[in-house]
Amino acid sequence: MIPVQRSPDPSARVLLLERIHPAAAERFRKAGYHVDEVASSLSEEELIVRLQGVTILGIRSKTQLTRKVMESTSGLSAIGAFCIGTNQIDLKACSERGVAVFNAPFANTRSVVEMALGAMILLIRDIPRKNTLLHRGVWEKSSPGARELRGKRLGIVGYGNIGAQLSVLAEGLGMEVHYYDISEKLALGNARICRSLDELLETSDVVTVHVDGSPGNEGIIGAHELARMKPGAVFINLSRGFVVDLEALRAVLESGHLKGAAIDVFPTEPKEDGSAFESPLRGLPNVILTPHIGGSTQEAQENIGTFVPEKLLDFLEKGTTTLSVNFPNLQLPEFRESHRVVHVHRNEPGILARLNRTMAERGLNITGQYLKTSEDIGYVITDIGRDYDEEVVSELHQIPGTIRVRVLY
Ligand code: NAI
Repeated sequence: MIPVQRSPDPSARVLLLERIHPAAAERFRKAGYHVDEVASSLSEEELIVRLQGVTILGIRSKTQLTRKVMESTSGLSAIGAFCIGTNQIDLKACSERGVAVFNAPFANTRSVVEMALGAMILLIRDIPRKNTLLHRGVWEKSSPGARELRGKRLGIVGYGNIGAQLSVLAEGLGMEVHYYDISEKLALGNARICRSLDELLETSDVVTVHVDGSPGNEGIIGAHELARMKPGAVFINLSRGFVVDLEALRAVLESGHLKGAAIDVFPTEPKEDGSAFESPLRGLPNVILTPHIGGSTQEAQENIGTFVPEKLLDFLEKGTTTLSVNFPNLQLPEFRESHRVVHVHRNEPGILARLNRTMAERGLNITGQYLKTSEDIGYVITDIGRDYDEEVVSELHQIPGTIRVRVLY
């Protein structure tokens, strides 16, 4: 079993891989932790060796944290994914080990929003085509179809973090914003809700897709949806590649039904820079193609570098799990004049009762208790008076189903 851990622990070590923004190492050092940095990702074998004695691990998208790696760890408390996605991490294996995982879901929201705005302006001015012509040495100044964004109707599909922020900025440019979302979302500013996707498609001059990557979103924009769009409208997808049928999009662009499109994400994307790229949209003059860079800015990297360490430190030093991707989310008050016992267990009946009975039998002065469970694990925080019997911690540790016990001072 994983030994009882105590925080703050002067020997706790942080390992940061894959050139995480320097703001992260700086923050951990300021908090008193020893930080090791490795510029690349590590292989499974290397990780198994390097993770011994590490309390916090920071990775980006290349490091694969497999079940085998997770099962080799004992002191590891938390993982920071200094990126948006967490597909590279076996989250179930992390939960079973009592390791909390955090990422930076909003750090690049603004970057994507700015790219969507840029794409709209370029597309409704027909700039991709003009740019290609001029590079070929053809001067074509007449621009009969060029338009302003002001007064045009923007249709946002998916009014989440990105969609909602785009809504606000697009209104600032004088656009009339409509959105469609499968969940009920609060309209920001003067934005108006559409009750169906078809309604949004039929009335918008610009359609931009910002839905999440759930499997049900595969192919939600196909030939039927594209045919419903207003003639001469433009289409943007910066969300997930599998959302749009690219053959169908090519057909409506070639037929002239749509004026242009900007696509940043693709059903299959090459892994390495410099790799060959194939797409039905290659070669179309009215299409902006970009290699999944909507969220890739220095500012986004810096945001990630400052956001994730705060989550990790809050977890390590206070037990807070807000925005954890695999632990039940618990926002906790400060603890003063008390110690905090963190108990992570398999979500099985009877464990909480056993925990409380053990504490009651030892006469612990409980000043607060917080509990949240997910499908796999239970997360119980108990604030106790400063004078307590050390034995009780080992008893809590012995309760069957216990994954991890931490005592915070
Ligand atoms: P989010 O989860 O905050 O918002 C997604 C919204 O879409 C939610 O409100 C959800 O209810 C809604 N939705 C889901 N399915 C829908 C459907 N079929 N029709 C209408 N609404 C639907 O996500 P966030 O942070 O706004 O990101 C949006 C997308 O942008 C994600 O797919 C994300 O992976 C992608 N993204 C792309 C980047 C890039 O570099 N191009 C960078 C960052 C995010």
